[in-house]
Amino acid sequence: MDTTRADPAPPQAAPITAVIPSYPLQFRLNGEQVDTQVEAWVTLLDLLRDKLELTGTKKGCDHGQCGACTVLVDGKRINSCLTLAVMQNGKEITTVEGLAQGEQLDPLQQAFIDNDAFQCGYCTPGQLCSAKGLIAEGQARTVAEVRELMSGNICRCGAYPQIVAAVTSVMGMKQHQDNPERPYLPGTVPA
Ligand code: FES
Ligand code: FES
Repeated sequence: MDTTRADPAPPQAAPITAVIPSYPLQFRLNGEQVDTQVEAWVTLLDLLRDKLELTGTKKGCDHGQCGACTVLVDGKRINSCLTLAVMQNGKEITTVEGLAQGEQLDPLQQAFIDNDAFQCGYCTPGQLCSAKGLIAEGQARTVAEVRELMSGNICRCGAYPQIVAAVTSVMGMKQHQDNPERPYLPGTVPA
């Protein structure tokens, strides 16, 4: 018996070519038409940041707990990490990059600067979009209601008094009218 003869090679399996389905998606983004394709599982946040390279919108928790990813869809504030991109067909989306008009800052952006309403700035895009949505909703009538209705936007730096001051100044409210005993100094984080 000839033991030197090699066994025949096993038959090769045909390579598996995975076809990942994607879906057409069209919407307006900061006034520009977007026409793209997206897989069904991609969130709006990941589409904005990873594919459309608008990294102003931030990913904090990625599961609806921090508000860093807040954007406006048809004028309403939403957590873009909890929203699938394919659901946005035909929508009008505004991110922090779309708030200014050219060199002219949105009044909220200017108020955040004037009131020293950020420290690291990571939460700021979400705070700005959330405040924009809050003002459009027209439900906040007091400073306390502004605090309550902005409570989904976490600021790890604790710039809450300054954020509230910025938002209420744009809304024409008397700042801190509900708690005059707790004034704050710009540039400080209150205890
Ligand atoms: S990243 Fe969306 S809520 Fe935190
Ligand atoms: S400014 Fe740092 S998290 Fe809000």
